[in-house]
Amino acid sequence: MKLLLLGKNGQVGWELQRSLAPLGEVLALDSSSQAYCGDLNDLPGLAATVQRFAPDVIVNAAAYTAVDKAESESQLAYRINADAPAVLAQEALRLKALLVHYSTDYVFAGLGDQPWQETDPVAPLSVYGASKLAGEQAIAASGCAHLILRTSWVYSARGNNFATTMLRLARERESLAVIDDQFGAPTGAELLADVTAHVIRSVLADPQLGGIYHLAATGETTWCRYARFVLEQAERAGMNLKVTPAMVEAIGTEAYPTPARRPGNSRLDTRKLQKAFALSLPDWKVGVTRMLAEILEK
Ligand SMILES: NC(=O)c1ccc[n+]([C@@H]2O[C@H](COP(=O)([O-])OP(=O)(O)OC[C@H]3O[C@@H](n4cnc5c(N)ncnc54)[C@H](OP(=O)(O)O)[C@@H]3O)[C@@H](O)[C@H]2O)c1
Repeated sequence: MKLLLLGKNGQVGWELQRSLAPLGEVLALDSSSQAYCGDLNDLPGLAATVQRFAPDVIVNAAAYTAVDKAESESQLAYRINADAPAVLAQEALRLKALLVHYSTDYVFAGLGDQPWQETDPVAPLSVYGASKLAGEQAIAASGCAHLILRTSWVYSARGNNFATTMLRLARERESLAVIDDQFGAPTGAELLADVTAHVIRSVLADPQLGGIYHLAATGETTWCRYARFVLEQAERAGMNLKVTPAMVEAIGTEAYPTPARRPGNSRLDTRKLQKAFALSLPDWKVGVTRMLAEILEK
């Protein structure tokens, strides 16, 4: 089996390089790849890559993910998040390949306190959310075999993430204020990649399983509670902190204005995916504890 992976160096793309490897021959590209075009900004180049490599599965982990910058770069955000997935979908249809794509809870308005189901009405608050929704719609409308996995609050142990930022600030600063009215579940790139490999196998065996699914860790938290959890683990590991978990101040979204509006409710209902693929998704603390163990060991 041949798999084309786009966005190989992103949080999820990096982990997919590992998790897709046992499935077959993986051609993993990023925007600067030379032998094949992996730049989602180059639509003819992208189409040529798919035609030349002729994969059985295309996994698109590349995206324009700068949520605030997208407000002033909407054309580029739409090209990468909507036009490029549309090209991938057309090429997948031609080849009868499976297209796997990631989307976001930002397609929802973020109101209420109930986890979003796949069938809930969409109403993005930001250019990023709207561009991701346009990508989903283009793929669904193309008629190609597809899997769209909507996720939320993605982190990876590699590079900087929310936890490493909190650890740094709690050592450097005298106080720390963190948003406490946005709810979601931090979801590890490792988990996303592992589940992706599993569901690809299932959909190839039973194409009826294709479609749109919510995929995130279970449980819920806020950024503030997440920060306190991180600092508790760091204290337990013997790290010296100026700001202790109890000192983290809870603030509302309005106290931290950003160019893009963010949803208050990022909870995703993942029952459809768990049932369809006989999976049991872990609580968010499982992955975060593991990621922290890796960071705190260093
Ligand atoms: N991060 C989150 O919290 C979150 C939440 C919900 C959904 N998602 C979705 O999950 C998926 C994976 O996200 P992630 O967290 O892994 O994102 P990420 O770490 O920001 O990675 C995105 C990747 O896309 C690449 N990319 C950007 N422009 C490109 C272009 N023109 N051509 C080729 N590659 C390009 C980036 O490469 P360069 O760095 O070289 O530009 C980067 O490697 C995305 O679809 C995202 O929308 C993410």
